[in-house]
Amino acid sequence: MTYVCICEDVNDSEISRLIKEGFNTVDKIKDASYAGTECGACIEVIMDMIDKNDKQLQRVRKIAEGISYPNYRLRIERDNASPGGRIFLQWVFDDVCIVTGKMKEWHCRKWYLSDFMLDSEIVKTAFAGAMASAEHQCREKFRYNEVRLFNPHTSLKALMEASARETTRDNPVDED
Ligand code: FES
Repeated sequence: MTYVCICEDVNDSEISRLIKEGFNTVDKIKDASYAGTECGACIEVIMDMIDKNDKQLQRVRKIAEGISYPNYRLRIERDNASPGGRIFLQWVFDDVCIVTGKMKEWHCRKWYLSDFMLDSEIVKTAFAGAMASAEHQCREKFRYNEVRLFNPHTSLKALMEASARETTRDNPVDED
């Protein structure tokens, strides 16, 4: 028996029992045992215990071990921000920020997975995520007269305005 939460005097057997009974998020464990409700130092251990008991999460992580894309890391987590949180995969990479010029860690968008996905569908989703990130990077770095013409962060309003203006062979020049 090992203490997990010193502040609230909760050990690993108690946490394991709760997880097996379906208390499968940190918030549920907190409510049921008060573990993690004081200094918070034990939360990472509780999260690890929850993850190790999560067969579906472990299954997806096992598949992800075989996936690689140069200079990227694949993160597989369960989104516990919402009840019954779904598993997602997310590519993470280090690159220079085009605004500050400093190196930083970038997190691509989350790709949520269904519990019923086949292994091949999970791998294809990771591939789609890598493709989306490559396109995003291209849009970030491509310039025309120093302008990020295909800026992936352009607002919807600006896109709506721009899309109303077209050039054709009959009218090849912008009006203004
Ligand atoms: S060790 Fe668990 S809240 Fe402090």
